Amino acid sequence: MLVGPPGTGKTFTASVLASELGYPLFQVRLDAVITKFMGESSAKLRQVFDAISEVRGVYFFDEFDALGSQRTTPNDVGEARRILNSFLQMIEQDDSNSVIVCATNHAEILDYALFRRFDDVIQYQLPEKDEIITLLKNRLQPYVIKRFPWSKLATQAAGLSSAEIILAAEDAIKELQLLIHEHKTISSNIIELAINDRREMSYQKHR
Ligand SMILES: Nc1ncnc2c1ncn2[C@@H]1O[C@H](COP(=O)(O)OP(=O)(O)OP(=O)(O)O)[C@@H](O)[C@H]1O
Ligand SMILES: [Mg+2]
Repeated sequence: MLVGPPGTGKTFTASVLASELGYPLFQVRLDAVITKFMGESSAKLRQVFDAISEVRGVYFFDEFDALGSQRTTPNDVGEARRILNSFLQMIEQDDSNSVIVCATNHAEILDYALFRRFDDVIQYQLPEKDEIITLLKNRLQPYVIKRFPWSKLATQAAGLSSAEIILAAEDAIKELQLLIHEHKTISSNIIELAINDRREMSYQKHR
């Protein structure tokens, strides 16, 4: 069970795990199963677990919190609870060679009983300063001069997710490509602006 805020690498982890193991990756959207197969979602889940034992792979249940969330209609609550109970039963009986990975942004709404069923619960956090520096350097090192204010930029980017930091770095690279005839390197100024833009978008998204 992978738990943490958006953009911290949960989905990324599932895909890296699959490619390291050389297993196919199957993504299951539980929220879609619940809404699309109203009344028969448990049967659909059964089919997924049949596949889990028949075809070895990494099975990634994203948006796992859909099972525990407060739904608006009583009908939905019933359906989510039914599928949660089915899931718990099926995961307990599972003795397949597949790897089951679940991910959620909302640990608090998931019942403790659920966590108990997982071999591991891994918490994902927003990146610390040294991690931000690594993320920025990974993307931007080829485009900047030797002595570069990485530390200052990392402070600027504090509070953004890994995904947002990578996007900011890519924005800055695009900016450079637009100016390619005038400049060969990215100035810290451009990166700073890209970081601030991402922060602005992040505020708007979470308001
Ligand atoms: N810890 C990390 N290290 C390096 N890159 C990362 C990390 N976390 C995220 N990324 C980058 O950000 C992208 C998006 O992250 P990902 O989709 O894994 O986030 P998530 O935790 O699944 O978010 P959500 O909760 O919104 O689904 C990844 O494909 C990867 O490029
Ligand atoms: Mg994800």
